[in-house]
This record gives sequence, C-alpha cells and structure tokens, in this order.
Amino acid sequence: MTVVVAVDDAGAAAAVPAQQLPPGHGQTVCVTGAAGYIASWLVKLLLERGYTVKGTVRNPDDPKNGHLKKLDGAAERLVLCKADLLDYDAIRAAVDGCHGVFHTASPVTDDPEQMVEPAVRGTEYVLKAAAANAGTVRRVVFTSSIGAVTMDPNRGPDVVVDESCWSDLEHCKKTKNWYCYGKAVAEQAAWEVAKERGVDLVVVNPVLVVGPLLQPTVNASAVHILKYLDGSAKKYANAVQAYVDVRDVADAHVRVFEAPGASGRYLCAERVLHREHVVHILGKLFPDYPVPTRCSDEVNPRKQTYKMSNKKLQDLGLQFTSVNDSLYETVRSLQEKGHLQLPSKEIPAELNGVTA
Ligand SMILES: NC(=O)c1ccc[n+]([C@@H]2O[C@H](COP(=O)([O-])OP(=O)(O)OC[C@H]3O[C@@H](n4cnc5c(N)ncnc54)[C@H](OP(=O)(O)O)[C@@H]3O)[C@@H](O)[C@H]2O)c1
Repeated sequence: MTVVVAVDDAGAAAAVPAQQLPPGHGQTVCVTGAAGYIASWLVKLLLERGYTVKGTVRNPDDPKNGHLKKLDGAAERLVLCKADLLDYDAIRAAVDGCHGVFHTASPVTDDPEQMVEPAVRGTEYVLKAAAANAGTVRRVVFTSSIGAVTMDPNRGPDVVVDESCWSDLEHCKKTKNWYCYGKAVAEQAAWEVAKERGVDLVVVNPVLVVGPLLQPTVNASAVHILKYLDGSAKKYANAVQAYVDVRDVADAHVRVFEAPGASGRYLCAERVLHREHVVHILGKLFPDYPVPTRCSDEVNPRKQTYKMSNKKLQDLGLQFTSVNDSLYETVRSLQEKGHLQLPSKEIPAELNGVTA
C-alpha cells in the first residue's frame, strides 16, 4: 500500500493511504471568472475534491466575491487572483504553476463590442498561458455554450443535436445573435490555439443553465426564469430551449478534467422544452406568482422541440438532475437571496411533483 504524508487543512501532517486522498489532493487548478454562476459551483466542487484553486476575478476585494471565501476549504486552498480577460500578464500569473485550467469567464451579452473581443481574445490568452505552462498544465477545460452548437437554420427537424453540430456564423451575424457568435468564435479560437501549441483541450457546451445560485447577484440565465415569476414577462415566447442544472455543469467540468480519456466537446443538457412547458411547470410549482399562460406568438405554428444527445457525459457517469427539480430550486434560491418576493401562498416542497 502506498502511504503518503498529507497535510490536512489544519496543517497537521498525517500518514494517509494514497487511495484515500481526495482526487485533487496536491493539484492546483485555475478557474477564470471564479465568482460567476457556474464557476462558483465549480470552485465549490473542486475544493470539496481537495484541489487548490486559483480563481480569477476582476477585483478580489469586491464584496460580490464574498460567497467564495465562505466555501468549505476556501480559507486553506482558494486564492483569488486579480485578472481581466484582456490582460495577458494577469491571466498568465493566474495560470502559472497550475495542473489544470477551467476557462469559464466570458461576457454574457448581445452587445457585439462587449461580447466578441473579450470572449475571443480572453480565450486565446488562457490557451497561450496554458501552453506557456506546458510543464505543469495537463488539460484545459473550456466552457463553451450551446450557442456554438445549435444556431443553424439548415439543420433538419429530425437531426439529433450532438457534438458534431456547429452554429452557422453567418446566421448568428444576420440575426445579431452576438452572444452565440462570440461563443462560437471563441470556441473555434480555443481549438486553433490548442492545436497550434499542443494543449490538451476539452470543451463543455452547456445549454441554458438553471438551479440554485451561490453568488449574491442575478446572472442572465436566472433572469430567464425570474421574469416568469416577478410579472415582468406577461407572455411566453414560441421557442424551444434545452435546460441543465448548474451543479451538473460543474460536475461535467470536473469529470472531463479528471477522466484521462476525455476528449473533444461534451454537450451538457438534460432536456429540450418548449417555453410553454417551462411556464406550465413553474405555474404548477408556484401557483401564486403571475406566471404567464399565453404565448406572445398567436400566428405561427408551435415550434417543435428537437432531440439532443447527452450520451458522452452519461458515459462519463453523469446522472442529470431533472429540470423540474432544478426549476423548483432556482425559484427557491431566488427567494432566499431576496431577488424574488415570497407570494402569500405557495405549495409545500413535498407536494411539488409535477409530471413533465
Ligand atoms: N448560464 C448559462 O445558461 C450558460 C449556458 C452556456 C454557457 N455558459 C457559459 O458559462 C460561462 C459562465 O457563465 P455564467 O452563466 O456563470 O455567467 P456569469 O455568472 O455572468 O459569469 C461570467 C463570469 O465571467 C466574468 N467576466 C466577464 N467578462 C470578463 C472579463 N473581461 N474579464 C474577466 N472576467 C470576466 C464575469 O466577471 P464580472 O462579474 O466581473 O463581470 C463573471 O464572473 C460563460 O462562459 C458562459 O458563456 C453559460
């Protein structure tokens, strides 16, 4: 039996059989945009798995990062590094000495100027910083998006969306979908730099992410749900979208980092739903909120859902949380964090079984 001397969180040295050490013991990883919605759950999971985390944030003293400092293990194994995506030296300093890099930071906006350059240049910088640390960094995991996958008007209705699909850049430009355009070009840039410089890159493509928030602020995908409860959306769109739980997205990142044979892209999705179905679930779970019951489009036929494969992540052992549970916990979390007022009446959690 291999026995190593491990230093526990209190600093005491103890002989621990190697197989009992957590998988991240002795490993340092960088997480960019550490205080974001997805990254916060990723940092939490990495700390739980014993990793030391160098998390980049734009200002380590900003109170909006306070939730990270309270995570279990953060006092001993989390270092917040100041870095903007457009500052190569700061990115390089954060990546220096790391065994792995999780690049999750990205603008999340449809403003072309704020979106495209930081997303693309920031991604190139992260990959170049990883290449400059080739002696230690063994893999980079890049958080891309479904936006780099499904925006293709020529895809047939029966096609199962999988990792081979790419968004059509011209279509993104034409429809001014600058978020999807920026994510697709950033992912392409990541693959190019990785190939050029010999970096082991794996990409996770999450769909719309829901589930509880760790951070104090409301991120864009939480607004997607919040608007159906706080009265700001009076109708729902004639649209389909795939959903996944934020804790599964964090889990996916760690799985593709730790699995030696992981490679390529990984679609991270639980289910594709028409918006009508989403508001139906929300309305059943939270009947005292003004959840819309009418579609904004009374002219066109109902948009059809498409099929999407999450087989690659299932093959890595990921069991996806049901969207119903994620939606329930999203709303609970928005209430707990004070982003959504409590309604006067609400059905109790144990009665919330809604058949999707
Ligand atoms: N949530 C979803 O539904 C979803 C779905 C698919 C893919 N994704 C991808 O997942 C990643 C995380 O998204 P999220 O939902 O967690 O959003 P988020 O909470 O807005 O997190 C984005 C993070 O990126 C940071 N960032 C943005 N621009 C930056 C810059 N120029 N320099 C340094 N940091 C910068 C933000 O920092 P500041 O707070 O300082 O701005 C924030 O911490 C993104 O790559 C996003 O494209 C998200």
